[in-house]
Amino acid sequence: MPPDAPAMRKSAATANEIASPRWMPRSTAYERSRTTDTRRRYGRAHAQEIGDGFAARLGRGGRARKKPCVTRSEEFSAEEREAIYRVIASRRDVRRDFRADEVPDDVLLRVLDAAHRAPSVGLSQPWRFIVVRDPSTRDAVHAAFTAANERAAERYAGEQAAAYRALRLEGIRSAPVNLCVVCDDRPARGHGLGRQTMPEMVRYSTVCAVQNLWLAARAEGLGVGWVSIIEPDALRAILAIPAEIAVVAYLCIGYVDRFAAEPDLVTAGWESALPLADVVDRERYGAG
Ligand SMILES: Cc1cc2nc3c(=O)[nH]c(=O)nc-3n(C[C@H](O)[C@H](O)[C@H](O)COP(=O)(O)O)c2cc1C
Repeated sequence: MPPDAPAMRKSAATANEIASPRWMPRSTAYERSRTTDTRRRYGRAHAQEIGDGFAARLGRGGRARKKPCVTRSEEFSAEEREAIYRVIASRRDVRRDFRADEVPDDVLLRVLDAAHRAPSVGLSQPWRFIVVRDPSTRDAVHAAFTAANERAAERYAGEQAAAYRALRLEGIRSAPVNLCVVCDDRPARGHGLGRQTMPEMVRYSTVCAVQNLWLAARAEGLGVGWVSIIEPDALRAILAIPAEIAVVAYLCIGYVDRFAAEPDLVTAGWESALPLADVVDRERYGAG
């Protein structure tokens, strides 16, 4: 283990929170329904695996079963392949028109499970997901956004300043769920593998988790908006995030009736989207 390896230590309170988060119903009916639903969607083996994970986390002694080491490379049908590309193409950053209905815990857990399955350097899994539903907490985060956004707006002048102020850049209060994704920059897990030369890889791993969640959410009909116009220290203070833990993402999540066909920033005339050919090089950087 590298000398810089002290992990995100769990206080007793935090461990309890993981075993039975406040936002999660504590009944076994909840666990049962999730496992049943998962079995229907992904098949028995996967459901068993998630179910065991839950049982283990809940202290019921569930153990991960041995899973097959390989899966067949041709296992996705043309329709399934098409579906994943459609999810990718139709994912949007959503900041408006969230429906008021709650995101059920089983749906939220599915998208968190997708996030938790992301690749990570050294299998460090350096992320942690803070689910925020409390309106008073969201009010405090919104106030932090407003302060930061005011400072950001002052950096623009003239027409661009007016255009900036017209943009909708967050959905903190209108989305029923917010999620803060944080990262332990020096995880003990993974024993330093892959981050001796590029320590930033742990944060990149956490961003992979965010992207998994974003795509899974799109498949569930949930809009996700990433808000980066907040001082990390403000989030630290509101959400009791330790100083050594990096804030990676603050996300607004909720059901929406429609996803825009193109990015809001394109529609607003703020920025255009690059064609793929502009960013692919042959053999050398910039060679085109
Ligand atoms: C790391 C990151 C931070 C972002 N921060 C914000 C933000 O603070 N406010 C906002 O309105 N959009 C934010 N976005 C969303 C981008 O503006 C959006 O992804 C981009 O315009 C492309 O649109 P699309 O995601 O709908 O395809 C962020 C996206 C990323 C990946």
